[in-house]
Amino acid sequence: MRLEDPKLLASVAKLGVEHQPGISMSEYTSLGIGGTTDLLLIRKHESIPGLLQLLDDNSMSHKFLGGGSNLLVGDGELPWIVLQLARPEPDVVLKGNFAHVDAAADLGRTVTYCAKHDLGGMEGLIGVPGTVGGALRMNAGAYGMQIGSYVREVKLYRAAARAIEILKGDQISFEYRHTSFAPDDMMLAVTLELPSKSYQEIIQGIRICNEKRRASQPLGQKSAGCIFKNPPGASAGRMIDELGLKGLSVGDARISDRHANFFVNAGKASAKDMLSLIADVRDRVEKAYGVRLENEVVVWNA
Ligand code: EPU
Repeated sequence: MRLEDPKLLASVAKLGVEHQPGISMSEYTSLGIGGTTDLLLIRKHESIPGLLQLLDDNSMSHKFLGGGSNLLVGDGELPWIVLQLARPEPDVVLKGNFAHVDAAADLGRTVTYCAKHDLGGMEGLIGVPGTVGGALRMNAGAYGMQIGSYVREVKLYRAAARAIEILKGDQISFEYRHTSFAPDDMMLAVTLELPSKSYQEIIQGIRICNEKRRASQPLGQKSAGCIFKNPPGASAGRMIDELGLKGLSVGDARISDRHANFFVNAGKASAKDMLSLIADVRDRVEKAYGVRLENEVVVWNA
């Protein structure tokens, strides 16, 4: 979808929002898949209510983009524009055991920055790509921890109320790869309370997680991490592997040889290829195990 009306473009610019026309979503997603649209880069949280009112008034659909690392975007000309937060400087401010982090901050860099100031707890998240906002929305986790455990306060744009609100940690429920945020809530910033640990101890924990990850996941390849959530008490990766499906492909969409719940873009995979591989695997697992796997990857269809 394109923003072409000069009056609308002038109003967007007046809000301090940067218009980037004709971007390819394949450059904004770790899978390297996705069609074309316009992007609006938001520099000030406070401009969001006005911007969304403007888009509504002009009947323009939109999506909020985080780091694009858990996302499968449709092919071709996309029927919505994309909104993204610009990363402010600084994006992490520490006060005692509290880290105030902008949603646009890179997750891995945030974990390392906190570690350098003797704040730990998030060692498992070091190799998880994406932004802090994206991790928060889906309650990202690995190696026995999840970000939700450390959340004390969230600043978000609530589409239902058309306003920026602050929620306390206990007003939000964080479950396995799921939160109580509404699908159209936009994460803006978070306050984390992190345990004090020495830098040495944190780095040791990070090293162990990195080694485990390197040994079991296809880190150098284009992927969206795990495609499916694990069903209660089981591992989607193990089930797909047991069915002998590693290496199964549709076009350039391929099940990783290293970890069967990672589907990689081995060249020029389209969203259509990837979606058909996902559907095929879901059916095969259901037939064999009677379990219908749920997507972990978020799909934005064209
Ligand atoms: N396994 C296989 N074959 C495979 C993959 C896994 O037999 O191809 C077996 C492993 O040997 C192990 C078990 O399945 O016995 C579990 O595998 P793993 O430890 O890799 O964990 P997982 O359940 O597949 C989860 C998360 C990962 C996270 C790791 C480490 C989900 C869907 N996945 O994977 O998160 O990094 O644990 O904590 O919850 C992600 O969310 O995108 C993600 C990568």
